[in-house]
Amino acid sequence: MTQGKVDALLGIVFGDEGKGKVVDFFTPQYDVVARFAGGPNAGHTIIFEGKKFVLRSIPSGIFDENKVNIIGNGCVIAPDLFMKEAHELEAAGYVLTERLHISRRAHLILPTHRVLDRAYEAAKGKNAVGTTGKGIGPTYSDKAARIGLRVGDIEEDFMAKYERLKARHLQILADMHFADFDIAAEEQEWLQGVEYMRKFRLSDTETEIHAYLAEGKSVLAEGAQGSLLDIDHGTYPYVSSSSTTSGGVCTGLGVGPGHIGRVYGIFKAYSTRVGSGPFPVELFDETGDELRRIGHEYGAVTGRNRRCGWIDLVALKYAIMINGVTDLVMMKSDVLDTFPVIRVCTAYEKDGVQTTAMPYDTEGWQAVYTELPGWQTPLTELRSEEQFPKAFADYIAYLERELQTPIKIISVGPDREATILM
Ligand code: GDP
Ligand code: IMO
Ligand code: MG
Repeated sequence: MTQGKVDALLGIVFGDEGKGKVVDFFTPQYDVVARFAGGPNAGHTIIFEGKKFVLRSIPSGIFDENKVNIIGNGCVIAPDLFMKEAHELEAAGYVLTERLHISRRAHLILPTHRVLDRAYEAAKGKNAVGTTGKGIGPTYSDKAARIGLRVGDIEEDFMAKYERLKARHLQILADMHFADFDIAAEEQEWLQGVEYMRKFRLSDTETEIHAYLAEGKSVLAEGAQGSLLDIDHGTYPYVSSSSTTSGGVCTGLGVGPGHIGRVYGIFKAYSTRVGSGPFPVELFDETGDELRRIGHEYGAVTGRNRRCGWIDLVALKYAIMINGVTDLVMMKSDVLDTFPVIRVCTAYEKDGVQTTAMPYDTEGWQAVYTELPGWQTPLTELRSEEQFPKAFADYIAYLERELQTPIKIISVGPDREATILM
């Protein structure tokens, strides 16, 4: 925690690194937790005291009743899904309205944005991105085209603005001859969601955050997705549509680079990816199936199989570089407990040429591996570094040496308790 600063916690690979768990673990140290990018394409899992929650738009600091949670201006929000998510938390006894603040500058995902998401994917055929179908791309496109609706728009003359943008979307769908939708039912719930959002503090969260910082309070910026899904730095065009990297913290919350404290980069002890796009470390064999089975690698939002492979140092070095990562957090170490040999991708190779720098396009590159001995010891019950088996301590030391960045937290199980500070 850095007083008077914004610390960032960023997924630095393809998402689903375990951000929700670590944000929840960190929350007691911070005054404010803020999401700065993405929307309900995220699925952040938090497990404690035998309970499990999956959050999409609401920050993972919400379980600590004394903390302010912010959905920042860089986010996109679907009122109906937001209402559903909030109702689940309310049913579990959490009171949200006072301590969950929403930026008036965040953009609204309309039901027709979701239809457009499907239509664009269908039109791409075999080149489809494999999106989550939540309307993320079309909403950020409208934002960039300067025709989007913002949360602040619900405060005045909203229906006219809504109907105008909806009509525009319906025209595009008609032009595409895409008729496979019926938004009537969805629209009703969506409008109820808009009403529900009015209960919350819709504020200029950028100014609010600066007031906290001026008081010396600390803010944790919760990343969504991962660096390789970033619109600029990811494996374009197989990316999401927001800035998921540390630069996105500045634009997505309205803070300057000087306000950023630590940048935590979170990754798994192996690799996964959901959706399409190149993935040089992908395993199509039994080892890949084992990683998926042991790691329960099925999407928290869509239930899709996550593609699995060994850890990728080319990707990690690149992500550390573009984010300015100061500290690393390694998750799901326990998933490797049973493997006699652990492989690590140290370079990519194509047409006899090797590289350790992230290529412009990773399509067609093969992973080059080195091997380390596995620890073959269950890690989940361990609570301190001194208890680590030697082969696991060696794996950590090897990664730190290669990545030139300290690993400050190790996660050995999904529960809040299974977290070790180094
Ligand atoms: P996020 O999107 O980055 O928040 O990650 P997800 O919640 O989508 O996926 C991470 C999954 O791994 C969740 O099911 C977590 O409960 C689980 N998880 C987190 N940390 C660990 C860990 O150290 N070990 C194991 N076995 N599971 C973990
Ligand atoms: P969290 O925050 C993993 C992927 C989708 C698809 C691409 C674009 O839980 O880590 P989109 O719907 O954003 O237009 O889809 O990005 N994707 C994620 N993969 N974790 C996520 O979020 C993701 N959010 C989007 O699978 O490949
Ligand atoms: Mg996830």
